[in-house]
Amino acid sequence: MRPRVVVTRDIGKEPLARLAELADVVLLPAGWTTSALIKELQTSEALLCNVTDTIDRELLRACPGLRIISNYGVGYNHIDVAYANERQIIVTNTPGVLTEATADLTWALLLDVSRRVSEGDRFVRQGRWAGWEPLFMLGREVSGKSLGIIGMGRIGKAVAERAKGFRMRVVYCSRTRLPLEQEASLGVTFANLEQCLSEVDYVTIHCPYTPETHHLIGAAELSKMKSTAYLVNTARGPIVDEQALIVALKEGRIAGAALDVYEDEPHVPEALRQMEQVVLAPHLGSATFETRLAMADLAVRNLTAYFQGETPPHVVTG
Ligand code: DGY
Repeated sequence: MRPRVVVTRDIGKEPLARLAELADVVLLPAGWTTSALIKELQTSEALLCNVTDTIDRELLRACPGLRIISNYGVGYNHIDVAYANERQIIVTNTPGVLTEATADLTWALLLDVSRRVSEGDRFVRQGRWAGWEPLFMLGREVSGKSLGIIGMGRIGKAVAERAKGFRMRVVYCSRTRLPLEQEASLGVTFANLEQCLSEVDYVTIHCPYTPETHHLIGAAELSKMKSTAYLVNTARGPIVDEQALIVALKEGRIAGAALDVYEDEPHVPEALRQMEQVVLAPHLGSATFETRLAMADLAVRNLTAYFQGETPPHVVTG
């Protein structure tokens, strides 16, 4: 009998066609509810989901036949992996393929907030621009400044590579220190979190979201940053205490923030939306044609390997 796979969102015709060669594919309609998902999973052993789908203990308990969850994305904090593993459900993700796109977006946001690009765009569109002025809309120069990278995995390293082009001094903190040769080739210096916050002009977050990194950046951490510094977050929203960030921005304790992720997506607090010194993107880190196709390919490859009786290439454990 052919296996059945439930897909929570359209990931493109070709990847779905490849999946359909080996399994019956059930693509859920837009706006599906958790009960509809659970209903479909009663007769399916496989699920292809993404970052916006909460796959918690309650859902897993309600789906006794589920054997594999293929996550279309690298971050898997929305899945209770530990419980899935306990139930012998395989969980896979799509690492590597979104590194460059996410690092590019990090730099797009960093440059945007520092040079006030989005703010200037709004100004022009509103018909408010009256002409060039020596002291008009000045931002802060990025070249030659310092950068603190929190989390030195694949994306942190790709961000550091790009910093070379801006001749920046880069410090990083991470659970594990890089080998010295790698630090030298990336041009980065190992530091603690405090140094990563207090000594730099830009702080950028690239660690995974786990119970340990929940609100890693709160009021106390923000108060360590320079008042001229910017915070960039393209990792996960809840790593930053959003309310503390709003207060720090309102009180001018930091110069600005550029965010791609939020505590309660897609909700973005009104206070953030009102601030000119904040750049807001709608979780676009991996949103390029090339990367999304590669993510779909990998998510499908993880499933097809399983259907063919092989170990999927990217299994994660909790
Ligand atoms: C991921 O893969 O974790 C990204 O956040 C999705 O773009």
